Amino acid sequence: MLINEATTQLMPFSYPWAWEEFKNLCKNHWLPQEISMATDIAQWKSNQLLNEDERNLIKKILSFFANTDVLVGDNLVLAIYAQITNPECRQYLTAQAFQEGVHSWSYAHIVESLSMDQKDVFSEFKRVGTIKNKHDFQTQFLQGILNKEFSTKTDEGRALFLKNLCAYYIGMEGMQFYSAFVLLLNFKRRNLLVGTAEQLEYIVRDESLHCRFGTKLINQYIIENQDIWTEEAKQEVRQNIMHVVELEDAFVEDALPNEITGLSRAQFSKYIRYIADRRLESIGLEVLFHQNESPFPWMNEIMDLPKEKNFFETRVTEYQTGFGLDWS
Ligand SMILES: [Fe+2]
Ligand SMILES: [Fe+2]
Repeated sequence: MLINEATTQLMPFSYPWAWEEFKNLCKNHWLPQEISMATDIAQWKSNQLLNEDERNLIKKILSFFANTDVLVGDNLVLAIYAQITNPECRQYLTAQAFQEGVHSWSYAHIVESLSMDQKDVFSEFKRVGTIKNKHDFQTQFLQGILNKEFSTKTDEGRALFLKNLCAYYIGMEGMQFYSAFVLLLNFKRRNLLVGTAEQLEYIVRDESLHCRFGTKLINQYIIENQDIWTEEAKQEVRQNIMHVVELEDAFVEDALPNEITGLSRAQFSKYIRYIADRRLESIGLEVLFHQNESPFPWMNEIMDLPKEKNFFETRVTEYQTGFGLDWS
């Protein structure tokens, strides 16, 4: 069982896939300071390359990431690790928690390198309603687990924990993060902020593995807790996914007041719906939008969603060890 079966005996594995995922994750070693930010610094200082809308968008996305990767780390340690008692899954969670720390370092490194006002960027989420709304929506799922009365020994607790797993692995790491990636990586296509983009590409690689593990964890949890995976529970998860899409729409309307090169709100709207449908399918739920094509095929080359679906038949050889990024 994933929960309520505390043991420190790792082998033989109850979930060999979790051990494989742990080993895959451990191959992703990188540190933010290894990536040169020299070009980004010059480009950010120049007044000619990025307009005011673009600068604001970049700051808002960094503000979002700077806070939410911390929240994901908190949820991992305080909620998921605390409840998932299976040892090989816990091995994975410790490796993931380390990576979330590296991601926070990466955002801090970008903000520092570009000499942005740290207080301004890191506290903006409290001021910008559309970022705060995303943050607050997720926080409620952590608060429910931190409640003293919470226990996965009750039906209500088991149901609440499933909602938390879906909210963080699907809604946040699998959707909110992906939409922010697309907005920021778009600049690389114009040869802008390539150091920032490279950091993001490493993070994307990590996050796609987190999302894949999370999907497997959720599906296993559902198998073991069929009694709480009711029609009502399924509809609630679909509604939560719908709400994540609405929050993303609101964020983009706010952060992208005018179209910028290579990116329109209409395209973004299709993209977040495309991602939402893929995530719903991955946990056996009916799609919401029937959005079968991504308006950003270049993102698929980086995130490789079709391959991610194949991740369920994992071939370790598809990953590379060490510092090089190779998406082929
Ligand atoms: Fe992360
Ligand atoms: Fe993550």
